[in-house]
Amino acid sequence: MYTQLQQRDSDRPPVTLSSLGQMRAAGEKIASITAYDASFAALVDAAGADVVLVGDSLGMVVLGHENTLSVTIDEMLHHTRAVRRGTRRALVVADMPYGSYHTDTAESLRNAMRFVKEAGAEAVKVEGGERRLELIARLTEAEIPVMGHVGLTPQSVNALGGYRVQGKTADAAEQLIRDARAVEAAGAFAVVLEAVPRELAAQITRELRIPTIGIGAGPDCDGQILVLHDVIGLTFSAVPKFARRYANVGEMISRTVREYCDDVRAGMFPSDAESYHAARAAKEEKEAPVNADGDW
Ligand code: KIV
Repeated sequence: MYTQLQQRDSDRPPVTLSSLGQMRAAGEKIASITAYDASFAALVDAAGADVVLVGDSLGMVVLGHENTLSVTIDEMLHHTRAVRRGTRRALVVADMPYGSYHTDTAESLRNAMRFVKEAGAEAVKVEGGERRLELIARLTEAEIPVMGHVGLTPQSVNALGGYRVQGKTADAAEQLIRDARAVEAAGAFAVVLEAVPRELAAQITRELRIPTIGIGAGPDCDGQILVLHDVIGLTFSAVPKFARRYANVGEMISRTVREYCDDVRAGMFPSDAESYHAARAAKEEKEAPVNADGDW
């Protein structure tokens, strides 16, 4: 379906866990971004993203929820399957939603396996540091690569009392370092550092052997990740301080759809050329199908 887009990148080998490790060793930054459906996944993949995260941020930017807490496993599986279909080269990581790994390890393992078996995820992401040690070790042992996530963990928004920068005091910084070390020791292949002072993120990046992927953690991490909708301007509130809006796609969509609606109301769409014709249909339309695939 996305072959034209994807051909551009066919000469670049797929991203694997070991290629991410090699990138870190070579000092090459890891460019990561979220995607939630097949068409956006194909675009970000062809544009060169190394890691595509099916983030539970989809609860907010796609489904219109207040926060990520109500996102379900079935919703995440549905979106992960779509992203998988659109992706050729990037590593596809699926966020495990709130509640899917917070009870017992056996159930969490079963849930994580669904992302691999039913949705084609190549890895899962779980939030939390020291308290996820046992879980991360168990998933890794079951051949499920795990990306950790420490610092500001949005699924803890109620426990944290809001979305705040983490690790600002000496004690909090020490805890964050312990969390990052625990995630690495348990077998995670990378760790997201969210909303952490850049000096602390730099220290953690120096101390760990696995890649650190920053979001609001300064430029010294091994890679960066942002929410796609913040980057392209498809969110309707102010973007966080750490995000950069590279385009205003929301504005472009509004303008385009307004133009279309105006044309419909003015009788300017469709034109005669955009219509089928009874007498000529059999001959001309067969010779010149209306889409590139020639199937309708
Ligand atoms: O859900 C999400 O999008 C994330 C990020 C790290 C961006 O967890």
